[in-house]
Amino acid sequence: MNQQQLQARAQELRQQYESVFAQKLNLDLTRGKPCSEQLALSDALDGILGNDYRCEDGTDSRNYGGIMGIPEARRFAAAYLGTTPERTMVGGNSSLQFMYQIVTSALYHGVRGAASAWSREAAAAGGKVRFLCPSPGYDRHFAICEALDIEMIPVAMNDEGPDMDQIEALVKADPLIKGIWCVPKYANPDGVVYSAAVVSRMAALGKIAGAHFRILWDNAYAEHHLVDNPPELANILALSEAAGTLDNVYVIGSTSKITHAGAGISFIASSEANLKSLADQLIIATIGPDKVNQLRHMRFLKDMPTLRELMQQHRAILQPKFEALLRELEAGLSGKQVNGAALGEWTVPQGGYFVLFNTQPGLADTVVKLTAAAGVKLTPAGSTWPYRKDPANNNIRLAPSFPSLPEISAAMKVFVLCVELASIERALAQ
Ligand SMILES: Cc1ncc(COP(=O)(O)O)c(C=O)c1O
Repeated sequence: MNQQQLQARAQELRQQYESVFAQKLNLDLTRGKPCSEQLALSDALDGILGNDYRCEDGTDSRNYGGIMGIPEARRFAAAYLGTTPERTMVGGNSSLQFMYQIVTSALYHGVRGAASAWSREAAAAGGKVRFLCPSPGYDRHFAICEALDIEMIPVAMNDEGPDMDQIEALVKADPLIKGIWCVPKYANPDGVVYSAAVVSRMAALGKIAGAHFRILWDNAYAEHHLVDNPPELANILALSEAAGTLDNVYVIGSTSKITHAGAGISFIASSEANLKSLADQLIIATIGPDKVNQLRHMRFLKDMPTLRELMQQHRAILQPKFEALLRELEAGLSGKQVNGAALGEWTVPQGGYFVLFNTQPGLADTVVKLTAAAGVKLTPAGSTWPYRKDPANNNIRLAPSFPSLPEISAAMKVFVLCVELASIERALAQ
């Protein structure tokens, strides 16, 4: 488009924007929350115990105790995470809380007694504890580091996962790098599934990193497929065991996006020594997890085949929502260019909860502001990066699970309008 054509198109888009503005929409594509229909798939949880509160080992689930979780839930977690029950721990309603606990315990109390605390080592070296953060990533992982004053180092992501050359070089050079956040399957927000080569290099990191290095392998979307033949994720626990680095890995999951969000159960798998150390810390904060809820979940989810059937029902609800979102992106933006470049690019995820949209460099915050003013809330620009600083200012995370199909289409029409308007207005201003 020449300057005149750009002016004319901008004028047209501004008029469209004004009419959307006047509609006073109130739409929200921010958080990856399940919708009510998805939550209703698990409503049988309520009352499922029918007054039978006994766990399989005879424990009364209504009473205190059982810091490691009830036996049937540990067996289930082992199947879900790919290990043995002895190497699992089952907790309360939030895997994020487990992750916070793992990091705070290692930081202040040590993974093998007080002398191993990351903070002690950092103080002795006159430095700071640091974490590697493949970015874009999950904002709440980054919030944990920020809250605990752990310095975050962004690491590039590519189609196979995080850039392992960069990671290996960083951990070799700096023993105060004590951890890395990973969402290895259908990563939040770019949907990447780590390749077998990446997983195997991850499993070997413990051999080249400083003391007590930990991988937080947050497999939040392990079974959350949107396609028929989902990609396989290599088993980091098996690879770590073979490499002699099992102590360096915590694999984490929960039923938050399987049953009731924020009212499910969470799992960790790691070496028995790590779990013991964590349990010794946890027992100070709680006498035990909610075993009644663990038992309800086991009566409902039963085994992996039953869980996979439930996940197919989730998929039946979610897939049309992703399709609607992608259709609007295609219809509104495909083939359009400004300044000789596409107006954006986006992921087509095979699972998980998000589509990542990249604007032309430098425009994400403008687009988010424009859509917000027109009544469509998006995740704040930058929030997928440590310290909310997206260096290219181009990532926008789109989450279609919660709104209805008509709401998604309406919100995305506004979104594509704002992307084009922002791109053209910038081109005109240059
Ligand atoms: C990658 C990831 N991990 C963890 C969570 C939260 O899990 P939970 O509800 O078990 O705390 C989310 C929720 O969006 C997530 O995207």
